[in-house]
Formats: sequence, structure tokens, C-alpha cells
Amino acid sequence: MSQGKIFLVGFGPGAEAHMSVRALEAIKESDVVIGYSTYIRLVKNLLDGKEVVRKGMTEEIDRCVQAYEHAQKGKTVALISSGDIGVYGMAGPTYEVLLQTGWTPDSEIKVEIVPGTTALSAAASLVGAPLTHDFCSISLSDLLTPWPVIAKRLDAAGRSDFVVALYNPKSGRRTRQIEEAQRILLQYRRPDTPVAIVKSAYRNLQDIQRVRLDEMKDCNIGMLTTVLIGNSSTFMQEGLMITPRGYRNKYDGITGQTLEGEKRGRSLSMGLEGWKTCIRQYLREHEAQSLSRVAAHFDCPIGEVLSAMAEVDADDAAGECLSARLPDDRIPEIFSEIKQWGALRAVIRNEAGAVSELFINAGDLSFSTAQLKIENEHFHLHVDLSTLMSGWLLRRADRLRGIYFLNSRGETIFNLSLLRTQGEFDSQGLQQFDRLWRELDYREQEDRAVNE
Ligand SMILES: C[S@@+](CC[C@H](N)C(=O)[O-])C[C@H]1O[C@@H](n2cnc3c(N)ncnc32)[C@H](O)[C@@H]1O
Repeated sequence: MSQGKIFLVGFGPGAEAHMSVRALEAIKESDVVIGYSTYIRLVKNLLDGKEVVRKGMTEEIDRCVQAYEHAQKGKTVALISSGDIGVYGMAGPTYEVLLQTGWTPDSEIKVEIVPGTTALSAAASLVGAPLTHDFCSISLSDLLTPWPVIAKRLDAAGRSDFVVALYNPKSGRRTRQIEEAQRILLQYRRPDTPVAIVKSAYRNLQDIQRVRLDEMKDCNIGMLTTVLIGNSSTFMQEGLMITPRGYRNKYDGITGQTLEGEKRGRSLSMGLEGWKTCIRQYLREHEAQSLSRVAAHFDCPIGEVLSAMAEVDADDAAGECLSARLPDDRIPEIFSEIKQWGALRAVIRNEAGAVSELFINAGDLSFSTAQLKIENEHFHLHVDLSTLMSGWLLRRADRLRGIYFLNSRGETIFNLSLLRTQGEFDSQGLQQFDRLWRELDYREQEDRAVNE
């Protein structure tokens, strides 16, 4: 008996013209074709002389089991799916079923995945070029995925400015998911963000709507629809939805010349190597701006601004700002030293964005590994330090001496700065701070070593 084989075939959005040559061959080579009844209908011209197994939408695992059973009998089986079979398709469940039977890639039954054009690229091709920058796909189906997981992904996509492709956006029973998706994304996107709603791409009933994000939930959306939601730079012009690649960050749109400070074939000045230099330049030009405003300007956590300040050199200063990272293993010891710092301003941020600003005496502070407590006769404040990741000293000319404690995302948990009265820092606090600074500021240490 010949060895069985399972083809996992993605046949694209629907029309035969968009099916790959390998998908056509795989179906041709197969003795048995298994699929959801609509899919079988879409490839009916290719099924002459074949055993055809039509299954309902909910019988997915059954489709995999049947494919395996036919392959065990030595047959070549095509398990077919629209789009790409690995994208919200049958490839995953089939491998899971096979592995449960003890099958391995070295077993007699061979498995070949035939990739296909997935719905998001089919839909995109019909409306312009909405996916030419970073994008993600999110399925709104909560049949197998808890809603909080889907909501978290929508939130992250919104926050990170991804173009978003929504699969399974709506069905007869699932109608509120698209409303919730709109609500979550509108927290981050303009109401007029372009949206393309593509129904039955490359099939008979193809329908395309171009709308704004705030109109999306009231549109005609169904089971066979893919929704493409633009990012902050996507635009709609002449009916085309376009997400720029970013050429305008580097080249003049008319002459094609590279913009000042940029180099052809090299990372942008705001690329990985260069962007901290941009932070330092910005700090030189905005001496009075608060650290949180600088971080907001670069849309980055404060930790990145502090690290840019720590990397200054003579030709690339950060204005009057300097920072030095505390060695992680010294943080507990530094906590106890801070208690000698005298009058302080403490700023504490909670996860929800509330900011408490307190004028305290350093003696009001007590630290344990998991908590900072600020307690005096007026208030008791407890700050969770379980996410504490790094500590930084900050100097800003003779105006500011402070210490920042950040979480793993580089966001401030709390910071303390020496208070000034009539322009003067508390002398004891200043002495303590300067001593610590001299120990930690490696540039000064190096300078001293060279001079000694
Ligand atoms: C279970 S997923 C299957 C995705 C498929 N494997 C793919 O790669 O396109 C079903 C969803 O795909 C999208 N979809 C599939 N075919 C489509 C088409 N021809 N036009 C628009 N959307 C389609 C819809 O969002 C639909 O709810």
C-alpha cells in the first residue's frame, strides 16, 4: 500500500485566478478532498473523480480526524481552507490531532502545507495599499478565545499604532464585538481614521465600503468580511486607502533628495543608533521642559530619556541634564541612605495615571523589598515596589537633584528630588546626593582617574 499524504491547502480568497499553482496541483493529486461545504463549492471545478467530504462549520476537528484516517489508508488527502490554511485555519488543529496520535514529521504519512493568499492581503489589494507599514490581525471571534484577551490585543494594537485587520468581525450572534473594537480603538485613533470593509473579496458578492472609524460599527459587516483599520498616518485619496512606508521621513517628496541629517541606505537619524542623539539635541533646545514632557514628545518611557542623558559626551550634551544609573545590587543600600536626604518632593504615579506630589522629610520614608512607605502624621502612603527594575540619579544644572525608580517598562514608579528653599538645597541632602553622584557618575570617575 502506498504511503498516505495530507495536503493542507489554502486556496486563497475564492476565485481560481488567485489560487497558487501548487494549490491547484495539490487538489489535482489528491484522492480525497475534505472541507467546509462553502469551500468545496468554491473549488467544485477541480473535483471530478474525487471522493469529496463536505463538513459543517463546527466540525473542524472531525475534518482533521477524517484526513488522518484517509491518509492511514494510503490515500492522498487535501484538507482545504480559504485564504491561507495556517491563518485562523485548519493547519494548527490538524497538527494537534496528528501529534496526539503519535505522528511525527518522520512518520510514513507526509504532510505538506500549501500557503495561500490570506483575506487581509486579498482585501487590501482591493482598496489600495493599507498594509505597507506594520500591521497586525486580530480575530474578533470569542468562540474559543476569552474576550479580555481579544480586548487586550485590540488595546495594544491601538496603542502601538498598528494598522489592524479584523477577521471574524461579526456574525448573526456575535454583533457587539465590532462595537467594542471600535470603542477601544477610538481611545487611540482619530474618529476619521480610514477604514475599509471588504466583504466576499474575489467572490461573487464582493462588496467594499470605505468609511471612518467612528462609522464602522453601523456598516454592513458579516461573517465573510475583513475590516482594515488604518494607523495614524493612513489616508484615503481617490478611493484608495494608503499607509505610507515612511519615505517622507527621509526624502524630499518633490526632488527626491535626502533630507538634512539623513543618509540614503542608512538608518534614520531617529533609528536605533541615532534616536538618543535626537533626545539629547531636544534637551539642549528645551532646557526648561519636564522629563515627562520630553518622554511624551518622543512617545517613549522616561527610562529612555534618562539613559540618553547618561550617554552624553563633550560634543553631544543633553543640555544641562546628566543622569547615572544606580547599580541594581546597591539599590537596597541606597534606599537607606536616602533617609538622610532631608526635605524632599516625592512624586508617585499609580498604574491608572494618578499622580501624588508630596512634600516630605526623608525620615518619613521606609523601604522593604516589596514596598515603599511614606508615613507621617498627615498621611500614610504605600507604594508597591514589586515591579521595580532600575534606579537613576538625575542632575539638571543647579536646579534639580533627584532620584528616579522605574519599572521594567522604564516608567516611573516614584521619584524624589531635593527641595530648595530660597534657591538653596538642604545642605545635608546635597552633600549626600553629591557623594553618591561622585561614586556613580563614571564619566567623573574616569576624568578623575585620568587626572590623578
Ligand atoms: C476562519 S477565518 C479564515 C481565514 C482564512 N484562513 C484566510 O487566511 O483568509 C474566516 C474569516 O476570514 C475572513 N475572510 C475569509 N475569506 C474572505 C473573503 N473572501 N473576503 C473577506 N474576508 C474573508 C473573514 O474575516 C472571515 O470571518
